[in-house]
Amino acid sequence: MHRLFRASTGFFAVLSCCVLFGMVRPSVAQTDLSGYWDARTQNPSDGTFRDTYFEIRQTGETISGMLIRRPNGIPITGSIKDGAIHFVTVPSPPPPPPAGSTAPARPAQRPIAYDGSYEDGKLTLVTQGRNGAVTSIAVKVPKEATMPPAPLPLPALKDLADNGLAKTPPMGWNSWNKFGGRVDDASVRGMADAMVSSGMSKAGYVYINIDDTWELGRDASGNITSNKKFPDMKALADYVHSKGLKIGIYSSPGPKTCASYEGSFGHEEQDAKTFAAWGIDYLKYDLCSGLDIYKDDAPTLQAIYQKMGLALEETHRPIIYSLCEYGRAAVWTGWGEKSGGNLWRTTGDISDRWESMDRIGFSQIKLAAYAKPGHWNDPDMLEIGNGGMTADEYRTHMSLWSMLAAPLIAGNDLRTMTDETKSILMNLEVIAIDQDPEYKPVTSLSSDGRIEVLMRPLHDGSVAVGLFNRTDAPAEAQFARSSLPGSLMGKEAKVRDLWKHEALAMEGDSFKATVPSHGVVLLKISAR
Ligand code: GLA
Repeated sequence: MHRLFRASTGFFAVLSCCVLFGMVRPSVAQTDLSGYWDARTQNPSDGTFRDTYFEIRQTGETISGMLIRRPNGIPITGSIKDGAIHFVTVPSPPPPPPAGSTAPARPAQRPIAYDGSYEDGKLTLVTQGRNGAVTSIAVKVPKEATMPPAPLPLPALKDLADNGLAKTPPMGWNSWNKFGGRVDDASVRGMADAMVSSGMSKAGYVYINIDDTWELGRDASGNITSNKKFPDMKALADYVHSKGLKIGIYSSPGPKTCASYEGSFGHEEQDAKTFAAWGIDYLKYDLCSGLDIYKDDAPTLQAIYQKMGLALEETHRPIIYSLCEYGRAAVWTGWGEKSGGNLWRTTGDISDRWESMDRIGFSQIKLAAYAKPGHWNDPDMLEIGNGGMTADEYRTHMSLWSMLAAPLIAGNDLRTMTDETKSILMNLEVIAIDQDPEYKPVTSLSSDGRIEVLMRPLHDGSVAVGLFNRTDAPAEAQFARSSLPGSLMGKEAKVRDLWKHEALAMEGDSFKATVPSHGVVLLKISAR
């Protein structure tokens, strides 16, 4: 392939000739790569492409500049030698955890190495992805093309009417935790089938939610289109509905979703109409690149979410509205509900590890009083059955999410669940706590950061009590009879273990149990 250093002037022609005869070695590259570049990578699995932007500065054989990424770019450094281009990103070290935090330090970002060549105005760049080499073709673009678009005017704030949905926390399945970008029409249909055949739908799980990576772009009229993994969204929605289930979809107020697919920026009303026409019943609306464009404060975020909330309302189709804004700007304090949200994320993304679930779950107790029927805190989707935690840890996950009245959105492959996973996701007695018809928030009876005892009053005068052991060894946990509501303090109160499905005795003035490491003893205590 013809490389970078082609001589283009008489001077350079003479220079090349001298080089040929070994008289001079060229030390300065003659084609200047300096400028802004759009490197486009095709994704053969769904027919989409992804743009990565670079600012390259070339001085002789030295390359510097930026991989342009919000909010801060990542510096690049490298060289051009004998036509071969090589550069690498230089990520900054992660910030140290806050003083006193026991959380593990964030892992350092790995540098990304690019090798390339240049021909006819195009840079071919090759980097190593998770599944092998990834090639992108870069062309020079004006600087503006690498910048986010200007913000759109946002509506004046108003309180949207309650849509009457999600009187109890939504229950269903979402593709992201297990499938990420591999979700497609066939797997969604398979999940709908399994939701019914496994008994999940009978247990209360209803929504089959497609997360990010279904999008392609826009047609000539600006309507959002699905990529080749989803040939016909309307037909898919009809299929899911034919199983007695409901279907959800995903978009973003920004131009790009978090996985760099098409977002709803500037097409909010149009997309809401498209979703309604397809028969969509649930929208997860993920801030993502909206953060590159709009201010990160409560009034701005409220206006962004209100815009889509109103667009959904105007479709006159009942569509659950799930705000995904990672708990920014204290969404739970009011603006989440005002913008039409039925649920709002209160945290960053969960992962299938004890540390992640433990940190997210136990940080939510203080927010419980902000939730109410129709408007729920969402500490992210379930990881139960995905393999990264023990059965005790998954029982803690299910118990804690239920004590919090969190949405129960399974994130595993429903087609291949073990009996143990089924017994956790379909524990009807635990689900009944989550879905209690008269929401009363969970409170902490005692907490020392190791053993947490939580109590949640239920509609029939009974209470759920969870004794959680966050330590790495079995531990004894207890609570005093006197910490229960008056009607349950008497010796005749009934105690039921909701994981063992058996009655227990509470002798004396306190209840004591040995709780496995990272495990839970979950009780329902009712008057006899
Ligand atoms: C964000 C969300 C996740 C998921 C991904 C998809 O990270 O928080 O739940 O939707 O985007 O790209």
